[in-house]
Amino acid sequence: MKVLLAADDPRPERWVEAIVRVLPEAEIFMWNPDGDCVAADYAIVWRPPERLFERERHLKAIFNLGAGVDGLLRVRSLPHDVPVIRLEDAGMSVQMAEFVAYHVIESSRDMAAYRAQQCDGVWKVLRPIRRQKWPVGVLGLGQIGTRVARALAAFDYPVHGWARSPHHVDGVVTHAGTTAFVPFLRRVRVLVNTLPLTSETRDILNYGTLGHLKPDAVLINVGRGEHLVDEDLCRLIREGRIRRAVLDVFREEPLPSKHPFWRMPEVTLTPHVAARTLREETVAQIVAKIRLIEAGQPVSGVIDMARGY
Ligand code: GLV
Repeated sequence: MKVLLAADDPRPERWVEAIVRVLPEAEIFMWNPDGDCVAADYAIVWRPPERLFERERHLKAIFNLGAGVDGLLRVRSLPHDVPVIRLEDAGMSVQMAEFVAYHVIESSRDMAAYRAQQCDGVWKVLRPIRRQKWPVGVLGLGQIGTRVARALAAFDYPVHGWARSPHHVDGVVTHAGTTAFVPFLRRVRVLVNTLPLTSETRDILNYGTLGHLKPDAVLINVGRGEHLVDEDLCRLIREGRIRRAVLDVFREEPLPSKHPFWRMPEVTLTPHVAARTLREETVAQIVAKIRLIEAGQPVSGVIDMARGY
């Protein structure tokens, strides 16, 4: 069995070593732009070059080294008759839950104000948290969104979740479909985006939609940069309708140095680190699926191309 790896990693050999450890019977190849076809059975990729699929014509499955497949689906040479399989959780959901909970708690517990008081040598007790004032809404109820929503519900925040189709999540008020979208937004003060990027969700965080949030809103975007219309967020912050935005993903990454977000005190930005792809967990999941495919068994996490996720 031949496995071709095209990972966006400064040291891709670490991935090869991890795969060899759990799939010793396989021949592992690292993508070489100047190389020849290796007749790979499986490709493990993150935003691969067009040439990979033009060259490798015998793939049984393509594994995406991430939860979001938008980057892969953009590759024009992606074959339509080969299953594309994304990462499912693989240690990402818990990281997302802690990242989001950290920022929700920081906002609702006035941590920035206490840090500012410390700088000024001020000992002053601010008003205690009233959770009813901090309803959180989670956009997207896949594995990541569900884990985020459950984590916040465990801290007794009122939590709402919205998805295209109906979902049940214990302790979370769920809303489904386009007609429920605006009523959902109106009930929410902290909006957390975990949606996949598709033609339907691109630009979904815009002046109109974000304008429905409760006053003094907080936006946390851990989905994709293209979900958010950057200028609309800047305008809502200028107008005082959004008090804080936590952004981990951007239209262009690294975020260009001239982008206004860098200099806005209301914006906290991180370099796409809310949930890292963990090598051991990822390799274990992919190898388990390769073994299932080899045994003629079905696997989960296969992308529905029409849906885009
Ligand atoms: C990271 O952004 C991922 O899609 O896993």
